[in-house]
Amino acid sequence: MLTNLQQQPADALLALIKLHNQDPRVDKIDLGVGVYRTGQGDTPVFGAIKAAERKLLETQDSKAYLGPEGDMGFVHALMPYVFGKADPTMGGRIEGMQTPGGTGAVRLAVALAKRAGVKRIWMGTPSWPNHAQIIADLGLELKTFVHSTKAGLVDMDSLRFALTQVEAGDAILLHGCCHNPTGIDYSNDQWDEIAPALAKAGVLPILDLAYQGLGFGMEEDAYGTRKVLAAVPEALIAYSCDKNFGLYRDRVGAVYIMMERPEQVAPALSNGHALARAAWSMPPDHGAAAVRIILEDAGLTQTWLDELDTMRERMRQVRAKLAAAGKAGTVDMTALGGQNGLFSIVPLTPEQILAMREKHGVYMAGSGRINVAGLTMANIDQFIAAVADVTAA
Ligand code: LMR
Repeated sequence: MLTNLQQQPADALLALIKLHNQDPRVDKIDLGVGVYRTGQGDTPVFGAIKAAERKLLETQDSKAYLGPEGDMGFVHALMPYVFGKADPTMGGRIEGMQTPGGTGAVRLAVALAKRAGVKRIWMGTPSWPNHAQIIADLGLELKTFVHSTKAGLVDMDSLRFALTQVEAGDAILLHGCCHNPTGIDYSNDQWDEIAPALAKAGVLPILDLAYQGLGFGMEEDAYGTRKVLAAVPEALIAYSCDKNFGLYRDRVGAVYIMMERPEQVAPALSNGHALARAAWSMPPDHGAAAVRIILEDAGLTQTWLDELDTMRERMRQVRAKLAAAGKAGTVDMTALGGQNGLFSIVPLTPEQILAMREKHGVYMAGSGRINVAGLTMANIDQFIAAVADVTAA
């Protein structure tokens, strides 16, 4: 029976981690999976997390089960950052639950949409490869539009056209900020147009907010999410703390549901609890508890926000340096300067991406995506020279 299970390809992005680890070259550069790195190339545990973990160690007196919703103190403490301090529940219309990482949040959001009767999900391409995998695995139809043009701009026409094509029972998956893989985000003006257009089209928004704070700041990066939520009756929000608290392997996320009326929230969210129970029962506690401890403590919150500022500023410096380089061979790097978050696309062919790896020890995703945080003032010139080399001739 089990021999029916055919060999599957390894996840291309995760396979890069192993390939990079096996490469003995000392000057290799890892621009693959999306983890933040300091100017020294490290991914340290946040100081605020270390302090919260110490407090957790001292104060946690039980590891008894919490339930499928996880740590609701964590879920609620995040809400002012996501939905605004003035009215984080939007008059009791929003509630959430903890999930295992951002992937768990997207998985649960899509599963909830499916339970509610959604049959098709619209998504701009390119997108994070796992989006399409989750949608396919849950048996929903994927409809695509073009997220961004070759010139590095949002393709609003493609989105506008998609919104004329939506039918009853459709949802749309949008990246809240720091688009993965392009780094090309909607401007505030574009969100101002998109939010009422979603409401008019009657499509269910699923907003993926996995990089809040890595673009322009916690408040700034929530603009689109809040704008959409103010315009539509219902929405699902998938949230990840894996990047903005540096908790990658601890898997810390949340899914939020917004309903038209407060009394609709509990019945809808009970489906999330049922789905979680059948899938993972309960989310891992440790990382979410650490986030809650930070957010309940003004001093630790400030430490965390300062650490986030440092990360963001470093990525801006790297982007500015790439943009200042202008052309690397046939590739114009200028647009990377204005893009946001961890990722950008460098338009290389598959052969050039292979040459980047084999000849120059530069590891990047097959889509041409680079993790800009993998670049440092010490290796950026080497990277630019490698791009120039593989695009020459
Ligand atoms: C990425 O895109 O590199 C991250 O979101 C990590 C992942 O799980 O793919």
